[in-house]
Parts: sequence; C-alpha cells; structure tokens
Amino acid sequence: MLLSRQTAVMLPLKEKDKPIVRMLLSAGCCARCVLRFCCVSVQAAYRQPQQDTLKELNAFIADAEHDKVQDSAGQDPAFKDESRDEAESETPPDPPCKRAKLEPGAGASAPAGGSQEPRICVVCFGILQDLCSTTQAVKIAEAVKSQQYEFDTLMLSVSLPAQLSVREHSCWLYVKARMREKSMVHDKDDVIQVKEAFKWIMQSLVGKELGGISVVTKSALEVGLEFTHSETESDCHFLAKACPDSFTTTKNKQSVFTRMAVVKALEKIPDAKFLKLYPCPPTQPTSSCICQEVQCLHTSVFVAGRYNKFCRSLPQTPWVIDGERRMESSVEELIAVPVLAAFRATGFNFSSSGREDVDVRTLGSGRPFAMELLNPHRSRLSKVEMKQLQETINQSSDKIRVRDLQIVTREAMSRMKEGEEEKTKSYTALVWTQRPIQQEDIAFIDDIKDLTLDQKTPLRVLHRRALAIRQRVIHSMNARFLDSHHFYLGLKTQAGTYIKEFVHGDFGRTTPNLCRLLETDTDILELDVESVDVDWPPFIPE
Ligand SMILES: *[C@@H]1O[C@H](CO)[C@@H](O)[C@H](O)[C@H]1NC(C)=O
Ligand SMILES: *[C@@H]1O[C@H](CO)[C@@H](O)[C@H](O)[C@H]1NC(C)=O
Ligand SMILES: [Zn+2]
Repeated sequence: MLLSRQTAVMLPLKEKDKPIVRMLLSAGCCARCVLRFCCVSVQAAYRQPQQDTLKELNAFIADAEHDKVQDSAGQDPAFKDESRDEAESETPPDPPCKRAKLEPGAGASAPAGGSQEPRICVVCFGILQDLCSTTQAVKIAEAVKSQQYEFDTLMLSVSLPAQLSVREHSCWLYVKARMREKSMVHDKDDVIQVKEAFKWIMQSLVGKELGGISVVTKSALEVGLEFTHSETESDCHFLAKACPDSFTTTKNKQSVFTRMAVVKALEKIPDAKFLKLYPCPPTQPTSSCICQEVQCLHTSVFVAGRYNKFCRSLPQTPWVIDGERRMESSVEELIAVPVLAAFRATGFNFSSSGREDVDVRTLGSGRPFAMELLNPHRSRLSKVEMKQLQETINQSSDKIRVRDLQIVTREAMSRMKEGEEEKTKSYTALVWTQRPIQQEDIAFIDDIKDLTLDQKTPLRVLHRRALAIRQRVIHSMNARFLDSHHFYLGLKTQAGTYIKEFVHGDFGRTTPNLCRLLETDTDILELDVESVDVDWPPFIPE
C-alpha cells in the first residue's frame, strides 16, 4: 500500500482527478491519454513506460477506494470529502480483495474489469501506446539515416487521422459532463494534444537513436510521420450530414474529411447534437494506427550568382514547343545540374534579373540569377566548395560561365527583382543599314541622350504578353564604324527596353526607332548584353 501511495504521488494528479481517471480508464483510454485529459503538462510523466503509468493510475484510484474503505471504518479522518463523495457516487464500496488485485505486480488491468492484455486506446488508437516506443524511434531514425541528410537538428511533424479529433471530442464531452456535475472548471484548451504528448516522448528517443542529434520544435529538417487508421475512417461521416457547410468537395483531395474540416465541424456542432449522433465515450477499436512511410523534407536552400552566356543558340530555359524539345540544353539546366548534385537537392526553381533571347549573348560581369533548391540533402557548402562548384559549372560547357556563386537567404533573393525597372542595362548591337553610313551618322548617334521610346508589345512576344504601350528610356548611345553598311551600336538603356524593336522599328510599333532616326532601313544582326547593373548578389573578389 505504501509503495502504491508513493508512486502515485509522482504523477501530478489531484484528488479531483480521481473520478476522471477512473472513468477514462474504464472507457478504454490509455494511461497517457488519461494524463492528457487530466491536463498533466509534466513531460516526464509521459516519458516513463506506459505500463508504469498505468500501474500508478490504477494504484491512485485503488487508493481512493482504499481510503474510502478506511474512511468508512473511521481510520483516515484527514481524507478529503470530495473523494468520499466521489467514491460513493461512482461505485459501491469494494471489498478488500479487489484492492489487492489492483496493486502493482497484479497486472496492468483496467479497473472496470478490462482484460489483462493492454487494449488499443479508444482515443489515440495506440499512438501513445506501442507507437510511442523505442522500436518506433529506431524505425524513424533508420528512415532518416537512409536518406543521408546533413543536419544538426530535426523536427518531428505528426499527421493524425481526422477521426481522432472526433474521438477526442467525444472523450472531452464525457469528461466535461462529469466535471459539470462536480462543478469543476477545466478548459478544452488545457487538454494536452496527442501530437504534443507524442513529441515529448519521441523527441528524445529519436535523438538518442541518431547519436545525440537534438530533436527540436523548429528545424530545417522536418521528419513527417503520418498515422492512418482505416478501421475507424467512417467515424467522421456523420459530420457531413450534421455540418454540410464544413465539407465542400475538392477535386484533388482524396477525402473531404480533412483534419481541418473535421475540426471546424466539431467547433460548430452543438454538444447535444454530437452526443445524439456519436457514442460517448467512443467505441473500442481492434487495431492500432499504421505509421506510413517516414517523409523527410529539408527547407529550401537559395543559391545566387551571375552567369555569362557565350552562345547564340542557347535558350535561358528549356525550349519546348508543342511538347517537343527544340534545343538540347539551356542556361538554367547547365547551371542547375551541377548545383543540384552538389546540394543533393531534388528540384529547383530558377529566376534571373531579366532574360535574354536564345540568340543573344550575355557578356561582361553577367546576369544575376538565383535558384531555389528543393529538399537539399546538403545545405551548407564552404566558400572553397562553392568555388569548386563554380569551377565545375565553368568547365562543364563552353556556352556559359558562372561567377559570384553564393548561398543567400530567401529574403535576399527578392532584392534581385526589386526595382528591376529602374536598373540600367548595356548592350552592343551589330546593325546593318541600307544606305551607306556617313561620318555624320556616327556623330549624330553619339550625341543622342535620354531618348524616350514608346514601345507597343513586340509582335514576337504578343502570343505571351498583353498588348500594351510602354515607355522606356535610352540613356545614351555610341556607334563604332565597321564598314559602310555595318556598325556596332552601343546602348545604355532602362531595363526592359526592347532593343531589337528599337533597331528595326517593328513595323512602326516602336517610336522613335533607328530607321526613323537615320532615315534608312536598318536591321539588327547580332545582340550582346554587356552588363546588367544590378548590385545583387554581392560581388565576390577573386
Ligand atoms: C517557384 O517559384 C515560384 C515563384 O516564386 C513559386 O510560385 C513556385 O511555387 C515555386 N515552385 C516551387 C516548386 O517551389
Ligand atoms: C568561372 O568563370 C567566370 C567567368 O569567366 C570567372 O569570373 C570565374 O572566376 C570562374 N570561376 C572558377 C572557379 O573557375
Ligand atoms: Zn491513448
């Protein structure tokens, strides 16, 4: 008796919890779910073996029965009235032989005549029982190890079957009804969530199995556990009729009974209606949950740099027309393949400060670009490793080169797109003229400053852009004579100026244009981007 009293004290339960503990155990709740509904927030109480907790709980309520027996014999006058009332209203006085059966060592049977076998919990479907064990921790750790991530910490994310919320609600109403009788106040929000209790138990176990890794609440590496329980899936179905507005059919979801929808419906449904439609306490399941394949996901890493493109037959992104690949490669792929390999990422998202046409080269210090690397298995590369990666890209093809390659933050990435319109870009165009070029033409061009153009959306991009007129400024120009029908035109322009259209006029859709200015037909034969004046990402000194 002394032993049971001592161990019971370890659980932070109060006299007023006794009736709740008794009714939940007899309803088929597991020991840890009992702690949850008693709002026990001491993590250690959940971490001890569930069999021990169950024994303590049994001893705790047996104590009450014992005390009551003692009390009725007038031997324990110090005992609180509350427990006496409780014992009297709950069960008739037990003979001493029943007490003996409940003592530690007599098996972990439920007090209300449960079998010797631990039953599957009516609320958590075993998640806080056998699915919350070292065996499970080993399974999770093995799954993480097999994916070979580089990480210092990880977080567990738990997805529970939606019907668990229904059962949680049923159990809560069961407890609440009892508490109202005893005029006790308890808030549903104080009940410890299954997820929370699960993490309290599993975080340290999984960490230990991974050789001392910290399992924390916020980490770049998320280890996802999804529990399903097909046996009780239909538990939710009555809610669809009771609260039809909460369940709208969505095309891509497998079931309308998402956890969110179920929780919303449970918030709306009046207690009386719920109790009419669903058993309280919930019924006994025969199987425990299944833990689906462990899913690991690392937050994205962002990499930025500048690229040069030296080839006039390389698109920036894969060029596919009518499902058919038109060019064998692209800037994006030439950069992405080695970067993905270095970070062991499973996908990427490429963006750049503007883009060039397939036949345009990008010279000078290059065009800023940034990539989101999805689910990287490595997330940190040293400066030296980044330099090696850059060299690998440089050497993989003559068509492109990369510089200033660096890891950046998601926030920093937006700097690239910010104020893009205000930036300047420099170009060199090889221009053909119908009439021979004179010295005066060269001087005329060199003198033009801050020329504002009205550009109707070019014919060549009309299929993908809305028709509009936009104004762009050519800040300055210079001409370099090549032969009497050819010259190199240097331009410094506002970002977004359509250069080709400025030179050939696009059937008068860009005004003024070079044809008009020189009073002859002109055409553009080649175009190079000389610089993209965006000061992001930071330049890296050689
Ligand atoms: C790629 O980036 C775009 C724009 O930032 C975003 O909408 C999209 O969801 C991203 N794709 C992936 C797979 O992350
Ligand atoms: C790669 O090429 C760029 C452009 O030529 C150059 O600036 C950079 O230093 C090269 N990097 C490495 C590591 O080879
Ligand atoms: Zn449980």
